[in-house]
Amino acid sequence: MDPYKHKRALIVLTTLILASEYAVAAAPACDCSNEPLTAQQAANLTSCKVLIIGAGPGGLYSAYFLRELGSDLCLVEKKKELGGKQQATEPPKQLATPGSPPWLDPAAIGTCGLRINQAFADQRCLASRMGVSSQEADFDSLYNAKGQWHRSKQAFLGPAGKRGSAFPGLSAADPDTEDLESSMLEYAFVTGSSNVNPVTGKSPRPHPAAKCATYKRAKDYLVALYGQAGYDFLLAGASFRNDWESELDVCGYIAYYTADWQRPGTSFYPEGGFRRFHSELRKRIAAAGVRIFNSSPINCLSEITTANTAPNSTSKYAALTASGRGWRAERLILSPVPRDVLKMQGSLAAKLAQQPELNSITPVKVAVYNAYWPSRWWEKYGSRSGRNFLLVTPSDSRCLVRSEFPGVKALASVNASRPVYTDDPKCVEKWEKLHASGGIAAVRKAVVEALQSFFPQEKIPQPIAGGDAFYLPVAAWHYLKGNGTARKVTVQRVADWALAPLQGFNSRGSAKPKSSICMVGEAYYITGSGWSWGALQSAMRCLKAKFADVMSEAAKADMEFVRVGCQKGRTTAVSPDAAAELTFKGEVRQAAGVQLPRLNPATGRTLAE
Ligand SMILES: Cc1cc2nc3c(=O)[nH]c(=O)nc-3n(C[C@H](O)[C@H](O)[C@H](O)COP(=O)(O)OP(=O)(O)OC[C@H]3O[C@@H](n4cnc5c(N)ncnc54)[C@H](O)[C@@H]3O)c2cc1C
Ligand SMILES: *[C@@H]1O[C@H](CO)[C@@H](O)[C@H](O)[C@H]1NC(C)=O
Ligand SMILES: *[C@@H]1O[C@H](CO)[C@@H](O)[C@H](O)[C@H]1NC(C)=O
Ligand SMILES: *[C@@H]1O[C@H](CO)[C@@H](O)[C@H](O)[C@H]1NC(C)=O
Ligand SMILES: *[C@@H]1O[C@H](CO)[C@@H](O)[C@H](O)[C@H]1NC(C)=O
Repeated sequence: MDPYKHKRALIVLTTLILASEYAVAAAPACDCSNEPLTAQQAANLTSCKVLIIGAGPGGLYSAYFLRELGSDLCLVEKKKELGGKQQATEPPKQLATPGSPPWLDPAAIGTCGLRINQAFADQRCLASRMGVSSQEADFDSLYNAKGQWHRSKQAFLGPAGKRGSAFPGLSAADPDTEDLESSMLEYAFVTGSSNVNPVTGKSPRPHPAAKCATYKRAKDYLVALYGQAGYDFLLAGASFRNDWESELDVCGYIAYYTADWQRPGTSFYPEGGFRRFHSELRKRIAAAGVRIFNSSPINCLSEITTANTAPNSTSKYAALTASGRGWRAERLILSPVPRDVLKMQGSLAAKLAQQPELNSITPVKVAVYNAYWPSRWWEKYGSRSGRNFLLVTPSDSRCLVRSEFPGVKALASVNASRPVYTDDPKCVEKWEKLHASGGIAAVRKAVVEALQSFFPQEKIPQPIAGGDAFYLPVAAWHYLKGNGTARKVTVQRVADWALAPLQGFNSRGSAKPKSSICMVGEAYYITGSGWSWGALQSAMRCLKAKFADVMSEAAKADMEFVRVGCQKGRTTAVSPDAAAELTFKGEVRQAAGVQLPRLNPATGRTLAE
């Protein structure tokens, strides 16, 4: 650490401020040290009534519902592409043949987003309204653990007296339990469900979840409930291991899990992926006259002092890039993830950085590898074509953890896959290092070796060169940081705070209504953690609470219509059961598909159930 750095920085800063008096045009009011900005200083910034920062799903959904504001609305995005994390891995060139079906143009597998859960009738409705059809698929899993292969977790325990359990020391209190894993998860994480511990058969009162605040990690809670063997059994089948292994707020996790548990395993896949969904949103937003600015990273969020306000300016906030571009607005929708908000400078950013809620949201880092193959070599290991084939492997060996081979036609027909999808911190680190040292070739090689080790009978081909990609989303999804309870921060409170991040809460604990800022995105709606649907909920809540006065009655009614899943006459959100029955224009339901032999990858023989 160089102790003189700060002094030098100070000198540079002073020079800038002094210089600005003489050369305003050369150093426009985009220096974060000039704060708070006077209206005169802000005068040259692009003026918008409403400014949305960040054009990921949260920003795009907000802009779509507010699009009638036309040029009064500005949408500013750091990257060249809109859509946030939900980009796409391009297929190898040879797949883009003329005459291919429309969803092949372009055929691409998503980076951070393939599916819309069946229960998300509002998001499916919006996609369908964009003219984006979707295809349906559920999951077919194959688990590897303790040297065994099974199609269900229950099989690892073995029927009593027949096969030995791979997890000795674990058994169900009720020998008739058909799915011990589900019972264990439900008892632990789904509030208000079962009161009987499926392993011990006991019903402690109060339910152990009442003590959620005393556990540092979900792992500690699960071990307390089921012992180490019980935990190992659950972990072996888990796709998302960071959730239990690292420190996060266990109470908040239970709130998320209870909501996620209600969601069916069937998903809808927008044809052309989220990228097409977003490009359709963008078209409509742009057609309405909204000003969209890409490649514009905001690094300073500033307030504009009302003293000295220029006669016609009602702008309260300024957002500036490092290169001198800037915007000013009366209202803000902030859609970057908390990590990016906390990196911003400026007086407004400093106020946000003091908020306990913003500081209580913690990101999860994930490693993803996408590839296209010359053949669908995996298909014969599934039980039925047209389903997603999911291979769940231990994290201590090869770090594939969750290898996914989509069954929906749009992706299966181009042999697209996601062979690595892991949030296990040790595995993420492994892939990150490998990629840093050897690039995509090193990742590809390790993936093929890993798959070969799990499928010794198979000759695993090379992924098609130029069609694979590695991603390391550092803020893939969000939970509450450990011991949120001690800070009085809950999942619900974060969602309410996001509607008025600088206004605080009234004495009854609900967010005060008056504010000109919202935080919008998946990170601010933790019951939707990991789903862009969370960003949609967050956007609609913000607009309903804060933007009703600038939305026409028609626009409000329209948003409400989307919110209830495009169903006339519905006033409440659609339940998962009702959502299952909805079909939207263009939605394709996969045919039942062909029964395949159920093979054991190690022996090539048919798997016993
Ligand atoms: C591996 C993986 C798989 C996933 N699968 C699915 C799935 O199947 N279905 C699903 O619905 N969801 C899925 N998700 C979740 C989905 O990606 C997110 O929920 C979604 O992207 C969140 O949208 P957002 O707008 O909140 O945030 P983001 O997508 O992160 O968008 C934030 C935007 O803000 C911009 N920004 C940041 N800082 C600045 C700045 N200083 N100035 C200007 N702009 C800025 C960013 O560039 C970005 O465009 C998955 C995520 C991962 C990681
Ligand atoms: C605003 O822009 C005009 C024209 O470029 C310039 O003359 C003026 O000095 C600028 N004012 C400020 C406060 O930056
Ligand atoms: C959380 O904080 C409370 C109060 O500060 C404390 O009693 C409790 O032990 C903490 N829990 C964990 C898991 O650190
Ligand atoms: C300010 O507002 C007045 C009254 O609405 C208008 O006549 C004038 O042209 C405006 N000035 C500027 C600089 O926009
Ligand atoms: C995809 O796999 C199928 C069957 O396994 C094969 O016939 C086809 O040629 C593959 N497609 C491409 C583009 O490689």
